[in-house]
Amino acid sequence: MTRLHTRTHVRSLLATGLLLGAGLTAAHATSAPPSLAVPLIPLPQQVQPGAAPYRVDATTTVSVDGEGARAVAGQFIALLGKTSALHLQPARVGKPVRGIRFEHDASLAGNVEGSYRLQVGAQGVRIRAATDAGLFNGAMTLVQLLSGGDGQDGQVPAVDITDAPRFAWRGFMLDSARHFQSIEQIKQLLDAMALHKLNTFHWHLTDDQGWRMEIKRYPKLTEVGSCRAPAGQAGVGPDGKPHLYCGYYTQAQIRDVVAYAAARHITVVPEIDVPGHAQAAVAAYPEHGVVDGPTQPSANWGVNPYLFNPREETLQFLENILAEVLEMFPGQYIHIGGDEAVKYQWQASPVVQAHLRALGLKDEEALQSHMLKRLETFLEDRDRKLIGWDEIIEGGLPPQATVMSWRGIEGGIEAATHGHDVVMSPGNTLYLDFLQTNLPDEPPGRPKFTSMQRVYAFDPVPAQLTAEQRRHILGVQANMWTEHTRTWERLQHNVFPRMAALSEIAWTAPERKSYDDFLARLPAQLQRYKALDIAYAQTALSVAMKRQDDRAGNKVTVELSNPLSYRDIRYTTDGSTPTAQSAAYPGALTLPVPTELKALTFFNGKPVADAPSRWNLDAESLLTRTDKTLAQCPQGGRLLLRLEDDNPLQGARDNFDVTIFNPCWLWEDAQLQDIRAFKVRAGRIPYNFGLLREEEAKRGYRKPVAAHGEFEVRAGCEGRVLASVPLPREAGADGFIELEAPLRAGPEQVTDLCMTFSGDTRPQMWVLDQVRLQPAK
Ligand code: ACM
Repeated sequence: MTRLHTRTHVRSLLATGLLLGAGLTAAHATSAPPSLAVPLIPLPQQVQPGAAPYRVDATTTVSVDGEGARAVAGQFIALLGKTSALHLQPARVGKPVRGIRFEHDASLAGNVEGSYRLQVGAQGVRIRAATDAGLFNGAMTLVQLLSGGDGQDGQVPAVDITDAPRFAWRGFMLDSARHFQSIEQIKQLLDAMALHKLNTFHWHLTDDQGWRMEIKRYPKLTEVGSCRAPAGQAGVGPDGKPHLYCGYYTQAQIRDVVAYAAARHITVVPEIDVPGHAQAAVAAYPEHGVVDGPTQPSANWGVNPYLFNPREETLQFLENILAEVLEMFPGQYIHIGGDEAVKYQWQASPVVQAHLRALGLKDEEALQSHMLKRLETFLEDRDRKLIGWDEIIEGGLPPQATVMSWRGIEGGIEAATHGHDVVMSPGNTLYLDFLQTNLPDEPPGRPKFTSMQRVYAFDPVPAQLTAEQRRHILGVQANMWTEHTRTWERLQHNVFPRMAALSEIAWTAPERKSYDDFLARLPAQLQRYKALDIAYAQTALSVAMKRQDDRAGNKVTVELSNPLSYRDIRYTTDGSTPTAQSAAYPGALTLPVPTELKALTFFNGKPVADAPSRWNLDAESLLTRTDKTLAQCPQGGRLLLRLEDDNPLQGARDNFDVTIFNPCWLWEDAQLQDIRAFKVRAGRIPYNFGLLREEEAKRGYRKPVAAHGEFEVRAGCEGRVLASVPLPREAGADGFIELEAPLRAGPEQVTDLCMTFSGDTRPQMWVLDQVRLQPAK
């Protein structure tokens, strides 16, 4: 759609007084992005003026041309009932009547399945498509046209939408192995996927920490493999016995999920990870592992060494598992993992080495490829396809395999170059366990954040591919890994609203994408989330604050911003909640201490967050920093995590920002003029990570002097010790300690403080929670 078309469209809607959205005035509309008139996500390929608007009410009839369309209409009516006040009668099969009409039209088949046309006129709304999937996509668009606005008055604007997906694979992956979700929660995610026109649900069902899928032939996979004792105190009950974390899905439950997804035109792709991430399976059936002796499902995140055995009996075991998987999952693709299978156990096993030589294979990579090729043949013989993580390229790609590129896009480029199909899912852009803002109130996860802007800007088709190679890019997927996502609230927080950006990179043509325009359409999507009880992240919609303290001058300079780049920030300093009439944030603000600052982001005169952000800029705040407001020292390494406490067993737990390689917290430009001591509050949490050997070698800590090490503060990371205090052996009953370390007198007035805990205290580690400068008086 050209800009000219869009403007015409807005004008025609204005003329009929039918603008959806935020009760716009003409003045607003001329300055607002054009597609605000139809706040659809993902943005359709073409929106033109329709013949006339139409009003849907409880008497509106829905008619269809057959059973497939009737099923789509049923989904439409149900979802509309949840997202709006409109409760329509079931659809009737028969000739078109006034009202909403779903019908097939073979001429509308596009290049990628799922195209549709939606036309609004005086007689009603007509949705046509070549396939049921296309009708379903049209239905989701109509749900959006009838929801998300203020009035929810049933007005459908006069639009004529011609739409088609960019990609066939519009994916979302859920890790149910590290933490487990209920069937109801998964169905809620599937509802949300449908609303976003996502059509592929990749279900990560097996990993080191849990096997979550019933396999009738091998009951121990779930009897043994579905329970783990979490690390630290979280794994010990009040009786001192192991407190297990358990969960699996029965085959009946899985069939129910698959059917629920199919009704929403979503295909479920199960993942059975081979040959690595196999510890839970090996715990259940040690004979299919490599090392002797019992093991148990892992409590460690990261890369664990347990591999399946590459021998014939184990391949048959895996084929027998796959035979049941194929019965449950009718979709074309089966994900066989292939990622992070560190080969230590195979290298150390004389039996595996003899097997490798007997097969005439070069190395362990070739042995992995041998296993995957065998499983691919099993799948191909049954008209299915193998997809795997990009490591499956190493050692030789199975001939028909599709590659899911996660270690950046390079694996995808290589696979496409060699004529293999590809799904792009780069970790640094589309892993939703990376937090979405750098705010302290993000839940546990990976704080090197992945913003909405970053997700939105991703183009799954690398520029260097030829036209022929580009055809191999099937699509794109975001992955919700759940090591740090123990609860459903946190999971929703991480997924939403970033799923909105995912949907647009999966669906909308790149030349149609505009982040500002997306921001203008997002508030309506948030309203739909609310209607669907989706607890989306407020952090992204809130206000972020950067402060510069002047303790001597008793003032603070703050910079405010919204993480999504909404620009209208209003603030107050009198304790009241900011309104659209409050002072507009003008740029950096210098405020006296104390000030209670509140700020709220607005769009089109309405707040985008549910509550204002609030800061108490008092004297205490000048003296105190937390793990979230401190920086990390440069030698800390890349792997910054926000880790949850293992305590208490029930109820809310604290969490801590820490780099697991060389933990060190940095207070830049601390003002020490009148300070006599540092007071630290520290927690004690499990260190539970499997690392590659070369990564393990990079771990570091300062050598301890006292029996249990000490808390140390240095002037800069290489400077003199400003303060040091011995650590106790253990934390107190609440899991915390508080210590005071006197400042050793010296010349420093303003300096960087580097704070560390010395000693290797694994399997636990000290983590800084809060540090306070103790004034002399
Ligand atoms: C992965 O993140 N290991 C695919």
